[in-house]
Amino acid sequence: MSIPPTRWFRMAQSWHLIAAALKTRAANGRPQAIRIIGVATGQEAYSLAMILEHLEIPGHILATDINPELIDYASAAVYTDEHVREAMTAGVLGPVEVLNFFANLASNVWTVTPPVRSRVTFGVADAGSDPLETCDMALARNVWTYIGARGRAHLLAELRSAIPAGGIVATGGSDFSTHDSPHDALPGFTYAGAAGLYVRD
Ligand SMILES: C[S@@+](CC[C@H](N)C(=O)[O-])C[C@H]1O[C@@H](n2cnc3c(N)ncnc32)[C@H](O)[C@@H]1O
Repeated sequence: MSIPPTRWFRMAQSWHLIAAALKTRAANGRPQAIRIIGVATGQEAYSLAMILEHLEIPGHILATDINPELIDYASAAVYTDEHVREAMTAGVLGPVEVLNFFANLASNVWTVTPPVRSRVTFGVADAGSDPLETCDMALARNVWTYIGARGRAHLLAELRSAIPAGGIVATGGSDFSTHDSPHDALPGFTYAGAAGLYVRD
């Protein structure tokens, strides 16, 4: 299995904005429905689950990828010392806080704690053709270049119908060419001005 690039708390500056947006939306006490598209080996989903736990924001994450082998890996949630170090030094949550969200199973074998694991459901889905359920926030980060023009049009249409006004889409650093204005990348959404975040009009 070839492992696509991903990291714990990838794009550190975006997580503070994502957390702030979730906090605001959860202020009425309604659990947040969060969708992750192209989750790869799970780090993105568990990073967000750790933030939700840390901030005590009610909500659940449905995280999918087109590759069932990656979803098996992500569901198993087995990581190494190097992964734990990466999460601890990402600069989003404090190192001790992050360490408390991992459990050491054996030498160089770690998993995430049950409260973090229970925040995430994984599944297989093709972002370029499958429907999206209604959600408050979708992370579609570093996946747009994989799915072709028709896939991108499909994903944009799905995001527009799945996300209500004020909901958030997070994109990644590799998603839209530096020649495109980020303001034009997702019609129907307004660029939040930083870190690849968009707000549904
Ligand atoms: C570079 S990784 C991004 C991982 C993570 N989102 C991040 O930003 O770190 C891209 C992922 O998109 C997945 N992918 C590619 N085509 C897809 C599709 N049509 N539907 C869903 N996921 C897809 C790949 O399997 C891979 O796991």
